[in-house]
Parts: sequence; structure tokens; C-alpha cells
Amino acid sequence: MDDTESIAGILLPGHLHSQQSLQYAQDFQFKEEDIVIVTYPKSGTTWMQEILTLIYSRGDDDIATTVPNWRRAPWLEHIYFKDVIIEGNGPRIITTHLPSDVLAPALQKSKAKVIYVARNPKDVAVSYYYFHKMARFLPNPQPFPEFLEKFLEGKVYYGSWFEHVKDWHSVSQTLDFFYITYEDMQKDLRRSIKKICQFLETPMYSKEVDKVEQHSNFAVMSQNSMVNYTLIPCEIMDHTQSKFMRKGVVGDWQQHFTEEQNKMFDKVFQEKMSDCDLQFIWTLK
Ligand code: A3P
Repeated sequence: MDDTESIAGILLPGHLHSQQSLQYAQDFQFKEEDIVIVTYPKSGTTWMQEILTLIYSRGDDDIATTVPNWRRAPWLEHIYFKDVIIEGNGPRIITTHLPSDVLAPALQKSKAKVIYVARNPKDVAVSYYYFHKMARFLPNPQPFPEFLEKFLEGKVYYGSWFEHVKDWHSVSQTLDFFYITYEDMQKDLRRSIKKICQFLETPMYSKEVDKVEQHSNFAVMSQNSMVNYTLIPCEIMDHTQSKFMRKGVVGDWQQHFTEEQNKMFDKVFQEKMSDCDLQFIWTLK
């Protein structure tokens, strides 16, 4: 596999990024009305894309899914964002996994709104592992224990989860920035949708919120081929290995971590996050 070491020394998939495309991202001219979803992979990117497109279609699923979600996705960074400009209602919705040192300076020059979705890193690691199994453009993840070690060392695509979250958090005050977690969305999707609407300055009627909520729940999204990636050819995403819409729960790491792995993870987490006040929910009671 052709990898690209980014400017920041982060491992990036070479078929999606090049020095040239990263330069393009750094120089990108955001429009005032742009909405930029920023995530570390497997943190709820697709979910947030669907919520935003539903908000701008006022809950109308037919309009929201005229453009498949992956056409708004970071996969497109290798063609320099040009395909991200979408038809339909509302502003451009741009999605990226890039680290803050690549994109934040361009965002700071703009009034674009940034939505950062974070997810507890134990569930991210498990989800990322299964994604490596199904995404043929990613290397075989090897057995889970090895993958977990690489994840903790930041030797996976898009680098260290810890750095990603902390670095974006550290620039949050300099941007029009909204932070939400996957777990917040799981705990109370309706409340999360309302908070997102507030941030977007897009008031909605209660009935419209009902529809956004209904179309963005896991069961419905799992069956929606415009968002569940089943329209992507099997040579690129092999759903026999694992579904993209896999489990959609909080705490699946408990089914995968040994006690020892959990202790090791907690130790690394405490060390790396000691200078950061963000809190994460590991399970939903
Ligand atoms: P799991 O693999 O844990 O099931 P991303 O879009 O950033 O790649 O994240 C994918 C993860 O988000 C997957 O997690 C997927 O199932 C989950 N997901 C997607 N839509 C969801 C929804 N509506 N509700 C809950 N989880 C969702």
C-alpha cells in the first residue's frame, strides 16, 4: 500500500492524500456558510452527515439522500475537495478526518462552522478494526491485539486518536466550533439534533425534528443504501467481512478487550489525556 507521511508526520492513506492534496487543503478557501464536520475515523461521521443533510431538507429523507453520503466524505480529499460541492438544499457540508494543524489555519481565516464529533476511543478502536477488515483499500488489520497496540501508538491512518481530539480541542476557541460526542447522540438523539440546529442557527418545528430523528436512527440508516455504503462495490468495501453500519452501540469494546488490554488502555489514556479536560462515556447504563 502506498502511504503518505503527512506534513505533521501522520500516517495517511496514499490513495486519498498526497502532498499536493494536503497543500490544497491547507490553502482551501472556505465559504462563510460552509459546515465542516471533523472527526477521527469511526466516530460517527456518517451519522452526523445524515443528521445535517436531514436538517437542511427539513426532515425530508427523499431530498436528504439525493446525494449519497460518501460523495461528501473525506475519501474525496484526493481529488482536492472539488466534488464536495453538492447540489440540493443548504450550505456545503464538507467532511474531514485531517488533523487541526493542516486545516485549522484555513478555517481560522473563515467564518465556516465546524462540528467536531468525538467518540470514546475504546469503541473507536474496535470499530476501526472491523472497518479495516471490510475496507479493501486499508491494510489487513492483523489480529485485534496487534491492531489495538498500533492504535494506541498512533500508527494507524490519521494518526493518534489522542492528538486528533486534543489538537482540535485546543483550537476550538479560535473557530465557530461545536463539540459533541457519539455518546451524547446515543443518550439523547433528539436533544442532540436540537443543539445542532441551534448551533447552525436553523430553527425547526417539532414535527421536522421528529423526522430528522426518525431517519437518522441506526435501524433506519442501516437499511438506507444511500448512507450504509452497500452501493460501493464489494472490491472496495466487502460487507461480507463486516457491515459499515455494524453495531452502532456504546460499549462494544467490552466484548473485545481483555482485562489486561483494558488496563493498558486506561493507563495510556490517563497519560495522554492528563492535560485535557474532555470527559468520555465508556458505557451507557
Ligand atoms: P460501529 O462500527 O461501532 O457499529 P464513521 O461514520 O465515522 O465511519 O463511524 C461509523 C460508526 O458509526 C459505526 O460504528 C457505525 O455503526 C456507527 N453509526 C453510524 N450511523 C449510526 C447511527 N445512526 N446510530 C448509531 N451509530 C451509528
